[in-house]
Amino acid sequence: PGIWFFDPAFMATAACDSAITYLDGEAGILRYRGYPIEELAERSTYLEVAYLLLHGELPTAEQFEQWKHDITYHTFIHENVRKRFLEGFHYDAHPMGMLVSAVAALSTFYLDAKDIFNLESRNKQIIRLIAKMPTLAAAAHRFSVGMPFVYPDNSLDYCANFLSMMWKVAEPRYEAHPTLVRALDILFMLHADHEQNCSTTAMRVVGSSHADPYSACAAACAALYGPRHGGANEAVIRMLTQIGSMENVPAFVESVKQGHGRLQGFGHRVYKNYDPRAKIIKRTADEVFAVTGKNPLLDIALKLEEIALADEYFVSRKLYPNVDFYSGLIYQAMGFPLEMFPVLFAIPRTSGWLAHWVEMLDQDSKIARPRQIYSGAEKRDYVPMDQRS
Ligand code: CMC
Repeated sequence: PGIWFFDPAFMATAACDSAITYLDGEAGILRYRGYPIEELAERSTYLEVAYLLLHGELPTAEQFEQWKHDITYHTFIHENVRKRFLEGFHYDAHPMGMLVSAVAALSTFYLDAKDIFNLESRNKQIIRLIAKMPTLAAAAHRFSVGMPFVYPDNSLDYCANFLSMMWKVAEPRYEAHPTLVRALDILFMLHADHEQNCSTTAMRVVGSSHADPYSACAAACAALYGPRHGGANEAVIRMLTQIGSMENVPAFVESVKQGHGRLQGFGHRVYKNYDPRAKIIKRTADEVFAVTGKNPLLDIALKLEEIALADEYFVSRKLYPNVDFYSGLIYQAMGFPLEMFPVLFAIPRTSGWLAHWVEMLDQDSKIARPRQIYSGAEKRDYVPMDQRS
């Protein structure tokens, strides 16, 4: 039946041809559609980056106004999604579990989503998904802490609106500190795409069956829910809390070297150099802490980085801080609970997932269907139950 390559976890398999994100892990380079991540983080905004990922080019002023308008006016979710669906969860439901389910449920509200080769319908679903993710995310958080739902305030920009839905407690409106809004925008840009990671692969695999984009996106969210993917920044905070003080850092690093656990937020399957996103995040962290006050775990993190980067164990294995090492410290300083960390990853990654979904459909790709190496029993005869031992 032909030649197959055994490549569990696809470590040596390019499963598609993509023009969206360029990643050179040895050199520590990340570009979206050719634009270096450093330049985008400095000069762009999340919504512009989302447009770039999806359309391949930066928008003109007119295109951007239209894009922003469309996203802004699709931020509301159907009342039944909130009242019947989200409020039906157990009182202590994890917000990421709620998000995974709510995204899947959206496919039942937009039946036109099944028409994936109708470009008008396709674009409408893309806009709906990017627009509604912050609303669903904030609704899941408010429910899980017993706070009333806050409707979108469409006079605000994307990130400011999300922060308002998260934190608003009284009328007339909630206005987040502009430094925090910008920091969130930068974090969203850094998380928008990362080529064929686990969740994007899930989006492509499910999308290859021509499922609607909400169902495919729910699969991508589910992949992100796993601690090996979207949960690493939460693990960093737990690790730093466990270390407890700067004096304990050397002993902790030694225990990692002896094989007791891993340094969370260090190492990457593709980056064998400093993750370029981690460098940007480190700068952003200083700006955020100037407003929120320093996260007390920062000094432990800095000490840990200093010791690890000078240690032969980490140097020889090319283990550097990754995007998650500092992002959790920022989110925590901004007031987000740990359970919201994967949700904060899912919001911006939605644009990347959708860009890959569109690219895959436009390439008229086949349904994803890998083969296997069978290692089970040889042919044998059925044994009736009363004769089994
Ligand atoms: N701390 C200590 N040792 C490590 C670490 C670490 N964080 N990461 C890898 N190693 C060691 C590992 O023990 C192995 O050593 P040896 O050759 O002696 O057996 C060597 O480095 C290679 O490890 P690997 O598991 O083969 O590497 P991988 O490419 O399969 O794993 C990784 C990549 C990200 C899963 C891993 O580095 C890790 O577990 N890091 C900590 C968790 C983390 O920060 N994850 C976030 C990843 S970035 C976000 C995302 O893209 O979703």
